[in-house]
Amino acid sequence: MAQIQPISLRWGIISTGDANNPFRICSSIQRRARNVDDVVHKVAAVGSRSVDKAQQFIDTSLGGDKSIKAYGSYTEVYKDADVDVIYVATPHTYHYENSLDAIKVKKHVLCEKPVTSNRAELQSLLDAAKENGVFFMEAMWTRFQPLSLEFKKISDSGGLGLPISVHADLSGNFNIHNIPKTHRILDPNLGGGALLDLGPYPLVWAIMALYENPANSATKPTITGSILKTPLTGVDCNTSFTLNFNQSKLAAQAVLSCSINTDALDPGVTVRYERGSIKIASPIYVPKSFVVQYLNERGVVVKEEKKFFEYIGRGMHFQADEVARCIRDGKTESALWGHEKSLLEMHIFDEVRRQGGYELPPGVEKVL
Ligand SMILES: NC(=O)c1ccc[n+]([C@@H]2O[C@H](COP(=O)([O-])OP(=O)(O)OC[C@H]3O[C@@H](n4cnc5c(N)ncnc54)[C@H](OP(=O)(O)O)[C@@H]3O)[C@@H](O)[C@H]2O)c1
Repeated sequence: MAQIQPISLRWGIISTGDANNPFRICSSIQRRARNVDDVVHKVAAVGSRSVDKAQQFIDTSLGGDKSIKAYGSYTEVYKDADVDVIYVATPHTYHYENSLDAIKVKKHVLCEKPVTSNRAELQSLLDAAKENGVFFMEAMWTRFQPLSLEFKKISDSGGLGLPISVHADLSGNFNIHNIPKTHRILDPNLGGGALLDLGPYPLVWAIMALYENPANSATKPTITGSILKTPLTGVDCNTSFTLNFNQSKLAAQAVLSCSINTDALDPGVTVRYERGSIKIASPIYVPKSFVVQYLNERGVVVKEEKKFFEYIGRGMHFQADEVARCIRDGKTESALWGHEKSLLEMHIFDEVRRQGGYELPPGVEKVL
């Protein structure tokens, strides 16, 4: 039998990321021992605002690999003919312009979460991606992890009945009184605050459990949002939002929250169903276990199943493999985390910010 040649995808990395995020994805995708034989990833170029920083990143994080080009601008990475796909890891409010520049020279793009500052920016990017015939995806890595795929099977099978509620929180103590106000988590010019940075993760579980549930038929929820801002810079510090899915087949509510000045008390996600629940362990962006509880008609737990997930790497390569396979197959979006879901996410964040009175400074949002 003829052996199928693996697709070899050449990545251009945009920004060296003070928080090491580009390193995490580079080290995750380049591992050979990740039990994948149809996809090979290669980091071809790294772009930074400083060429020294790009080279330093290659030296310290990528083993000084001489085949990787260091560039002192992002544009040079987009224009490099040896690069197939761009990974955008700049602060949120730069995602739009960085992705657009890449798309305009017909590069495929994987862009960090939150995909843009608002829905209008995302729509404009998607129009450009369509016009240029390139693949575009938000780096919602949680959606592609094996645990999420197994969660979906159980959740959608109906064995627990219909979903009733989702409770999810992602909070982290960023020590906001002692970090510079220019830190991206505090600076409104960089889309600072809890919602845009942490909100995507509670939300992805609500989307998986409720929006994607077969009983929902892709109907958008109604949204209620509440924001408490920090006087330090006016960004949202503690944010909560509820999503109501209320139609003939599904009546369910998601209660979601995120904070930048405290750690979560009860970290994790709980999804309750008519006949049981699924409790997903923390950290909710890359959980490694969940518990399924089955209830009898009196509400007593009659069976409990624990599931654990082990794999090599930090769990970022699953999304990168999805990007490679979509590009190989000529697709412009992923079926698991497609454009419609990122549009829904940005629509929800716009609405929560509107209700909570959190406006980004004039000029930060490039499309309104
Ligand atoms: N998926 C995940 O688990 C995960 C984790 C962390 C962050 N993220 C996302 O990744 C993005 C970056 O987060 P991060 O924590 O890596 O940010 P960061 O540490 O602040 O780094 C951002 C990088 O962007 C570049 N940059 C370009 N313009 C900038 C500007 N005006 N101000 C500051 N930096 C600028 C810089 O790289 P150069 O100087 O090299 O150009 C900087 O190192 C965010 O959107 C965040 O949501 C995702």
